[in-house]
Amino acid sequence: MSRLLVTGGAGFIGANFVRYWLEHHPEDRVVVLDALTYAGNRSSLPPEDERWRWVEGDVVDRAGNEQLLREEEIDTVVHFAAESHVDRSIESPQRFVEVNVVGTNALLEAVRRVWGESEEGGLSPTPRRFHHVSTDEVYGSLGPADPPVREATPYAPNSPYAASKAAADHLVRAYFETYRLPVTLSNCSNNYGPYHYPEKLIPLFIVNLLEGRELPVYGAGINVRDWLHVEDHCRGLEAILLRGLPGETYNVGSRNERTNLEVVEGLCDAVDRAFAAEPELSKHFASAPPAAGVPSRSKIHFVKDRPGHDLRYAIDPSKLERELGWSPRVEFDEGLAATVRWYLDHERWWREILGRGGYRGWIARQYGRPSEL
Ligand code: NAD
Ligand code: TYD
Repeated sequence: MSRLLVTGGAGFIGANFVRYWLEHHPEDRVVVLDALTYAGNRSSLPPEDERWRWVEGDVVDRAGNEQLLREEEIDTVVHFAAESHVDRSIESPQRFVEVNVVGTNALLEAVRRVWGESEEGGLSPTPRRFHHVSTDEVYGSLGPADPPVREATPYAPNSPYAASKAAADHLVRAYFETYRLPVTLSNCSNNYGPYHYPEKLIPLFIVNLLEGRELPVYGAGINVRDWLHVEDHCRGLEAILLRGLPGETYNVGSRNERTNLEVVEGLCDAVDRAFAAEPELSKHFASAPPAAGVPSRSKIHFVKDRPGHDLRYAIDPSKLERELGWSPRVEFDEGLAATVRWYLDHERWWREILGRGGYRGWIARQYGRPSEL
């Protein structure tokens, strides 16, 4: 039996991970630590029960982290908590350094102290692990003909978000080299799936379509991302936690490179197909293009490019496949259709977010007045 601390468990991937872990490891205890920033949602998690505990707190608080680690006798930390949106990092980088860099160090320090104490008397009775969840964006942008990044590819982060994640990754490595803290790292490509906050490309565009708004594609839509379903990411994290070696980094991706325009067109077609199959949807989402017999693709609208917009991310997951036996299971078009279905079926979840002043403020700042979208 393991006792897990999951930081950022109310965010997109964290919540999917907590749900996955509770389902597949019913014997384990899970403690979620989350500051409930704008991106955190209690409603993304199941109701609390004796198997898992909710703690609202900030990873930057080292003493608070220490207390929780002791109190819950945590042996496994899965660190998701971060500021995660590139566009917000361009607007205000400071918070990214505070949470992603200082916060990661505060958590590492707490873990080092607490796990170090009980090791004075000899080997710890349970194997321990600090797993740091990171991104492929730390490797920077690839040219069209470059090979996908491997674990040994040098870091070259371009956005403040990517730079803050890269700094955190280096700290995690340093705690292994310096203190022999049993760490593992994973660098994953773009995720999509349920409970994805509607500021990122896929969920934003789904809710925009359902609300009859335009789809603001940055630049010419030629940037390439390597999309992975969040459940495949969770399975990858499980493989690393159970079989990964301390000090090792594993890249997680599905060799599913698509231009943004391809993703958006696929999304539009998935929405149109869902409406065609279920006429009730047109009554319920009356502003959506298919409700008026218009293809969703007509809402594609090219807008000013993101500054420093990385052209291409592509990740080589061979090490994770070869050494830990992981492979992605969700085919992209099916995953996209299932994600559209999830947003159709969970309107309450996203409408509550759309109703928040903070969300509306961000959309207005980033894209102009909401009515222009
Ligand atoms: P998210 O923005 O949806 O969620 C982040 C969560 O962290 C939220 O619940 C938020 O409340 C919490 N949080 C923020 N600051 C905190 C703090 N100081 N203390 C405690 N909790 C705090 O992010 P996500 O998309 O779920 O990403 C999770 C992790 O995975 C991040 O570390 C991100 O860098 C990494 N990652 C994300 C992707 C992706 O495609 N989304 C891909 C690769 C890696
Ligand atoms: P995003 O979901 O923000 O993830 P990341 O920047 O971490 O890759 O964006 C994915 C791609 O979609 C990225 O190339 C930027 C682009 N994009 C748009 O074209 N329009 C948008 O409104 C958003 C949010 C993203």
